[in-house]
Amino acid sequence: DANDISKGTYEHYMLKEVDEQPSVMRRISKNYIREDGSINVDPEMLKELNKADRIYIVAAGTSYHAGLVGKNIFETLADVPVDAELGSEFGYHMPKLSKHPFFIFLSQSGETADSRQVLVKVNEMNLPSLTMTNVPNSTLWRESTFTMELLAGPEIAVASTKAYTAQIAVEAVLAKALGELKGIKAAKDLDLKAQLAIAANGIQTIVDEKDRIKKLTADYLTDQDHAFYIGRGIDYALSLEAALKLKEISYIHAEGFAAGELKHGTIALIEDGTPVFAYINDGIGASHTRGNIQEVKARGAHVLVIANEKYAQPGDQIVIPEIDEMISPIVSVVPAQLIAYYASLARGNDVDKPRNLAKSVTVE
Ligand code: G6P
Repeated sequence: DANDISKGTYEHYMLKEVDEQPSVMRRISKNYIREDGSINVDPEMLKELNKADRIYIVAAGTSYHAGLVGKNIFETLADVPVDAELGSEFGYHMPKLSKHPFFIFLSQSGETADSRQVLVKVNEMNLPSLTMTNVPNSTLWRESTFTMELLAGPEIAVASTKAYTAQIAVEAVLAKALGELKGIKAAKDLDLKAQLAIAANGIQTIVDEKDRIKKLTADYLTDQDHAFYIGRGIDYALSLEAALKLKEISYIHAEGFAAGELKHGTIALIEDGTPVFAYINDGIGASHTRGNIQEVKARGAHVLVIANEKYAQPGDQIVIPEIDEMISPIVSVVPAQLIAYYASLARGNDVDKPRNLAKSVTVE
């Protein structure tokens, strides 16, 4: 039960929270999507959002990575330009805003100071805002114009897992509602209820493969100090989150990279045995990323491929069940969560309370 704050039979909260993701997807679907498939969100908020000529998503850490995924979802389903921004940058170096901006704050805790200082400025400018958070009545919740709850249940492990997947799902809910209001075909055509059910089942398939992922983690990361995640498009955004997870709890230096950028510098770091985790869920980027895999392999990289069933080839180590590409990170992030978990465990780290990190950071 995603609301239960005891560890139950789990050794760590993180693994429990990873396992709760299918039920979180079902809960989001049940709360925000009616039986007939229509979306249940505040009509006042939609009206305001519909006036926006640009959406600014502001967040930090893992929530920022969920914002990068959301950018593509809003642009596709609701035909509105979106900027995903880091609170710690945006607040001090605010770009020239569009005429009718709408701000979305993504925050698991609702307390992140870097994001809040942006909200303070947004409020001073009398601009509309929405906070999507896991914690009702948190600071960002109270201070923004509109709110949506992530419904992930308490997240206790410092490394965020179910809040990330919940954020993507709730972004999709809102983007579909806005797109439908605007009469956009992509929004009408997306059966989000079905897709969230597919996401729940897909996550379940991956978490049921824990033992195999644990073994792969040992094969690829034992005695390694560096690792790379690569991908294009939706997989690039995902690679950033996958690498952050690994850094946070295993302390292995990891970078998430746009696969096509490797050749412009980073490929110099590839040596014999360097682990490279390649994501292939993005249809447009798939064949190019396959090319990049060959390039790093030729330089000795130890490549693990995480591919959507649609694009998978024999020999790919992890196959993601088919799902709408836009929301595919909900499922394809899960192997990375598990890889980080098992790498951390193998190193004897404190999985739930990694060094130097706090669950919510209330200083700028
Ligand atoms: C902290 C946590 C991260 C989290 C970030 C943003 O740094 O350690 O896991 O992603 O804050 O937190 P928020 O609560 O705003 O999503």
